[in-house]
Amino acid sequence: MQTKIAPSILSADFSKMGEAIKMLESAGADMIHCDVMDGSFVEPITFGGQMVRDIRPLTKLPLDCHLMVEHPKTQVGFFADAGADIITVHYKACRKISKSYLAETLELIKSRGVKCGVAVNPDVPVEKVFDLFPLCDMVLLMSVFPGYGGQKFIPEVLEKIRKAREYAATIGREETDIEVDGGVTLENAAAIRRAGANVLVAGSAVFRSDDPAKTIGGLRG
Ligand code: DX5
Ligand code: ZN
Repeated sequence: MQTKIAPSILSADFSKMGEAIKMLESAGADMIHCDVMDGSFVEPITFGGQMVRDIRPLTKLPLDCHLMVEHPKTQVGFFADAGADIITVHYKACRKISKSYLAETLELIKSRGVKCGVAVNPDVPVEKVFDLFPLCDMVLLMSVFPGYGGQKFIPEVLEKIRKAREYAATIGREETDIEVDGGVTLENAAAIRRAGANVLVAGSAVFRSDDPAKTIGGLRG
């Protein structure tokens, strides 16, 4: 599978978001990773559907919306209307509401013609979401605890990537995207790809680089 690089606009200067989107597109990004935070599921607040709506006309690249929010089902409509191509919700935010909430949310995303994904934190065994693999277009394995860019990659997640890729193959879902988010750098990207991830999110590695195109190429291998 071709490795896709999804730079996170969490690391952009929000006062110049339009320029950031243009820069990422010309630097060869495959998707734009939009880190949505609500100040409750995670401490910081970043942005909502309006940011996605405003950047939508600036790029043809898929907008990969990572909802680090409580009650994510309530947000699906806003992001689908805004033009999101992928909406990923957190296992932890859904499971606290009810057993069926996560599957219902994934179904709702799909019903809007948007790709759906489930995200698991570093401390959640990936087996917890195996039952949802048949529903998911993507599985997001957090390699940091969500909330902040610029954190260090948690190497124990490599084993989870292997398990996720193996399980997807076992159930005949080879095309499932396995996305890794948090602390991805030029130093660890090869190991992350070898473990089986095919979508790499990178915020600080791209935005702190003096040559984003070279960095994106390097992350893609
Ligand atoms: C955490 C965010 C970050 C971001 C990537 O909640 O999801 O992981 O996307 O940040 P870097 O690449 O700077 O670790
Ligand atoms: Zn993210």
